[in-house]
Amino acid sequence: MKRVASAILPIIALDRKALATLHRQIYDAYRTGIVDQRLRPGQRVPSTRMLAAELGISRMPVLHAYAQLLAEGYFESRVGAGTLVCSSLPDQLSSREAQGARFAKVLSGPRPVSVRSSILPRGEPVLRRGWGAFGVGQVSVDQFPFQIWSGLVTRHSRRMDASSVHYGDQMGSRNFQETIATYLRTARAVACEAHQIMIVSGSQQALEVSARVLLDPGSRVWVEEPGYSLTRDVLAMAGCRLVPVPVDREGLDVAAGIKLCRKARAAFVTPSHQYPLGATMSASRRLQLLDWAQSSGSWIIEDDYDNEYRYDSLPIASLQGLDSQARVIYVGTFSKVLFPSLRLGYVVIPADLIDRFYAVRRAMDLGPPSFFQAVAADFIGEGHFARHIRRMRILYRERRSALVESIRSELDAPLEILGAQAGMHLAALLPPGISDQETTERAARLKLWLWPLSPSYLGKARQGFILGFGSTPAEEMPRAVRKLRSALHPS
Ligand SMILES: Cc1ncc(COP(=O)(O)O)c(C=O)c1O
Repeated sequence: MKRVASAILPIIALDRKALATLHRQIYDAYRTGIVDQRLRPGQRVPSTRMLAAELGISRMPVLHAYAQLLAEGYFESRVGAGTLVCSSLPDQLSSREAQGARFAKVLSGPRPVSVRSSILPRGEPVLRRGWGAFGVGQVSVDQFPFQIWSGLVTRHSRRMDASSVHYGDQMGSRNFQETIATYLRTARAVACEAHQIMIVSGSQQALEVSARVLLDPGSRVWVEEPGYSLTRDVLAMAGCRLVPVPVDREGLDVAAGIKLCRKARAAFVTPSHQYPLGATMSASRRLQLLDWAQSSGSWIIEDDYDNEYRYDSLPIASLQGLDSQARVIYVGTFSKVLFPSLRLGYVVIPADLIDRFYAVRRAMDLGPPSFFQAVAADFIGEGHFARHIRRMRILYRERRSALVESIRSELDAPLEILGAQAGMHLAALLPPGISDQETTERAARLKLWLWPLSPSYLGKARQGFILGFGSTPAEEMPRAVRKLRSALHPS
């Protein structure tokens, strides 16, 4: 026999001294819950037996109340599913009316929020906006070794024991720290030991923890111009004063930064593959940046988000590995090399700051969930990760080339392409006179989701797009670019 899933108990406060009978009180509690939409159409309600037991009363009043709610159309019963809130509710309960009444009640009186939170842009989360042919940060779903991954998930679910269900270490599981340290020393020339690695929920949390440890309200901070808007959001939340420093073909213009604000507390940079224009920071700029940090007592936060995918040369060693003064906080992520919904990233912390990071992290969330650390550690340890990266590098190179080729062959006025040598996106600059925001709106009407470049700037913006190519097969690229052409040149 099919088991009916247990329903969640609603709040029903019974008053035995009240004049209203128990069955009336139960009826009223449900009716109000349904009218207020705390209980939603189709939602299961507990059986009469369970509710009576929970409320500590006989079943009779519950049976009466349910009978009445069924008779009046608030409840319905379905064979095999038990009793549910009716999926077509009586007319007078128009949802808009009920919602309006609820909001009117809530919205009176002052509703203060922090000034910092009101600076942040609201609306759709930026990384979900761009699903589709050119979505930024979308990995190739068709090629991920899900079979191997789910085998590891199954293995670890079968092994749950006291140590896997209790609080884990705040920095992350030792095994995963060791695995990442080996990987970073080998593949990224990061100078690190396992105990310096803090596992976080993606680079985003890494930036947040770093800001909380290193910066004060009012601290001046270099950010790349153009740059990653979610870094700027973290810094705005920390109350920092942003100093936009221009980037050119060699990456961040350090001399310009020094001229603008020598005494900045920190610089947030993407040296391997500048986001969004894609420059690789030159060796001389790296040394200049490290020199500046040392002489002005500043920090460098290196966001190394996609360097594993480099197409025309070997991966570039990290900036952190060049740093002999422990001025660099290195941030990495599994969002591109595995998949972003995992929310797994890491920070490599200078040894003298580990205690501070540890204390701040404790105030934030008591550490990362342990389950997927164990799965990812095995995925890497058993060699699947290295194989996956090798395969994806070939696949993404092909997709990248197909996109570049299609932009050149399918568009009437070819766009200038930047940053196509690495990662899973490139920047395409528009000719003068075309607005990226307007084109994005036109494209959305054609169901093509574009990421305009201009919001990556704090000051005067160049117009263009950040085009992701990770999730679009090479053979589909020309068609996607033709759609882009229709958005660029409306007939
Ligand atoms: C500059 C930059 N840093 C970091 C990330 C990844 O963020 P997370 O690790 O939080 O998914 C992205 C994703 O697109 C990015 O563009």
